[in-house]
Amino acid sequence: MAQLWGGRFTKETDEKVFAFNASLPFDKNLFSQDIEGSIAHAVMLEKQGVLTAEEKDAIVKGLAGIREDVEKGRLSLEENQEDVHSFVEANLIQRIGEAGKKLHTGRSRNDQVALDMRLYTRAHVVRTDELLKGLLEELLRLMEENLDTYMPGFTHLQKAQPVTLAHHLGAYFEMFKRDRLRCGDIYRRMNYCPLGAGALAGTTYPLDRSYTASLLGFEGPTLNSMDSVSDRDYLIEFLAALSTVMMHLSRFCEEIILWNSNEYRFIELDDAYSTGSSIMPQKKNPDIAELIRGKTGRVYGALMALLTTMKGIPLAYNKDMQEDKELTFDAIRTVEDSLEVFTGMISTARFNREVMAKSAMNGFTNATDAADYLVNKGVPFRDAHGIIGRLVLYCLDKNTCIDALSIDELKNFSDKFEPDIYDAISLRACVEKRLTLGAPSRKAMEEVIRINKTYLTEDHYE
Ligand code: ARG
Repeated sequence: MAQLWGGRFTKETDEKVFAFNASLPFDKNLFSQDIEGSIAHAVMLEKQGVLTAEEKDAIVKGLAGIREDVEKGRLSLEENQEDVHSFVEANLIQRIGEAGKKLHTGRSRNDQVALDMRLYTRAHVVRTDELLKGLLEELLRLMEENLDTYMPGFTHLQKAQPVTLAHHLGAYFEMFKRDRLRCGDIYRRMNYCPLGAGALAGTTYPLDRSYTASLLGFEGPTLNSMDSVSDRDYLIEFLAALSTVMMHLSRFCEEIILWNSNEYRFIELDDAYSTGSSIMPQKKNPDIAELIRGKTGRVYGALMALLTTMKGIPLAYNKDMQEDKELTFDAIRTVEDSLEVFTGMISTARFNREVMAKSAMNGFTNATDAADYLVNKGVPFRDAHGIIGRLVLYCLDKNTCIDALSIDELKNFSDKFEPDIYDAISLRACVEKRLTLGAPSRKAMEEVIRINKTYLTEDHYE
């Protein structure tokens, strides 16, 4: 058991208590951020005349040496230390002696952990955004390839009107685009540096907080030292954004699971992204899609857990906040892994165009267009709706569909029906007549694809 704060104590910490209190087993994830923040702090202290050039050089060299030793496996992060901050400081003192003891001047572990966690989260906001962008690029490629892949569109999971696969995928494109926008918002809101807040009330040393902030790529320093050490809003926002990403992935996975079922057969997942059954030789299961759908729960759980942890904490820092780490690390890893495998799964899947088109033709998906046809011939929409309703009932009874009826049969329902009805309610016409922006016709989709291509070339972190 090693700790930095023995002076006031007359007794060793109980072993169980030490382990319960310790965070090194998980905050070792923040190791490189801790080194980076410490280097910036030392450089600033020297600029302000708090450290000599020699002391600063020794500290920076010592920290770089620790980083290298850990990276090369010469130094293990499994040491018996309370947390990653103690680990780095204790190793520095061991390595360079007296100068090492000065690194913590004007700093507390409270602002240090606030900084490390921000640096870590900021990098993963960018990483999440990159992964989302990769998925969007794949989706756009699939959309361009499937402008004429007709399929049924559903409401209430009942066939409603025909759409195209491009259009269906385009809906997810918009969802993941909004997820990226959320990442951008979070990045901009969180990009302020808490270092220099000290334990809670700043420090008496002449720190240049703006300088440290700029060294670490922040927009500037945070403006209230108590808030700086106790703000975890950015984590809550990021977990909420990650939960929304998972909700989108989960909905998409649910559809893939349905489409991959024996009943639908719209899609066949690549062997590399499917799994077999240990007993049923015929099975090829969509385990990956199911797992992503399942993992959504743990990401929501992380958001709920942190909101609950934070709700009763008085200002400023309290140890409760250490609980932000494991769940954040887990949620981030879960979402990044999910995005990566999902992108691979969707980009290697095969879509059965014939099956989809056939399915789009069944289920009276052209009923609205048949009603619209009558409206164009002067029948009020409400009457047209009634006529087509009766027509559908007739077809159901005869086990047929509207476009298979003869013109004489159709005329029994309305004398407005003419032979041009067949073209008007063909699958192609039902889709291609929907020209409004955002609708499924090729023409409307091409415009959307053009807009989204431009969007994908823009940089959102400037
Ligand atoms: N391990 C702590 C955390 O994650 C670091 C800050 C400790 N500060 C303190 N005053 N005990 O929050």
